[in-house]
Amino acid sequence: MQRIVVLTGAGVSAESGLSTFRGGGGLWDNHRVEDVATPEAFARDPDLVQRFYNERRAKAREVQPNAAHTALAQLARADGVHLTLVTQNVDGLHEAAGSPRVIHMHGALDGALCAACDHRWPAPLVIDGSTPCPACGAKAARPDIVWFGEVPYHMDEIAEALGQADIFAAIGTSGRVYPAAGFVDYASAQGATCIEFNLDASEVAQSFDDHRIGPATQTVPAWIAEVTG
Ligand code: OAD
Repeated sequence: MQRIVVLTGAGVSAESGLSTFRGGGGLWDNHRVEDVATPEAFARDPDLVQRFYNERRAKAREVQPNAAHTALAQLARADGVHLTLVTQNVDGLHEAAGSPRVIHMHGALDGALCAACDHRWPAPLVIDGSTPCPACGAKAARPDIVWFGEVPYHMDEIAEALGQADIFAAIGTSGRVYPAAGFVDYASAQGATCIEFNLDASEVAQSFDDHRIGPATQTVPAWIAEVTG
């Protein structure tokens, strides 16, 4: 059994038409990250933050998974492979491609979270200041997204999978945001072979054993064909 941990970032969804966060035309070029992705920003200007995520939720529902998402769904079902798929993305494109289990370490656009009682429920298309919590009734709904300064989800499970991995693959992530950017060093220290898939070298490229440079829709299916023989 080959144990593989894959970490995806915004680059895996770029060819589906979703903006990345950094780089030319990146999402944060129009919205400064500190204006939308922190608890402080939400306290200061909840309407701006809700609008930003409402737009992203609408856009995410318009787009289709691409060949990289589809290949990863096939990898999960391949004989002799145990895949742990971790994503920093808040879109649902891995699920739309048929991936059976996706660990959303930064949350998901299709989730709503009550800031008053922590209840979670499926997000309506639009969340705003009038959206009541179905459990406690408070009008304190927010996207179930991990903001800067908050703790990413499922870290214990991710650490355990990284500790057992034969292969760690990072796909379409800039290596600028921790803790995800540190997964390569952790997996490498535990003995995994580490492969990076990106258009360019990421911030943490030197930690990887192998680099597949190019669009994820080409490099990822080619690698998965290699792994599954
Ligand atoms: P970034 O926007 O920082 O990086 C995207 C990476 O994908 C870049 O390194 C690009 O070179 C690469 N890329 C772009 N198109 C690609 C393609 N077609 N094929 C392969 N690679 C491609 O996005 P993330 O690393 O995912 O967090 O950002 C990490 C976190 O920062 C996000 O989850 C988000 C953000 O702030 C939160 O919202 C909490």
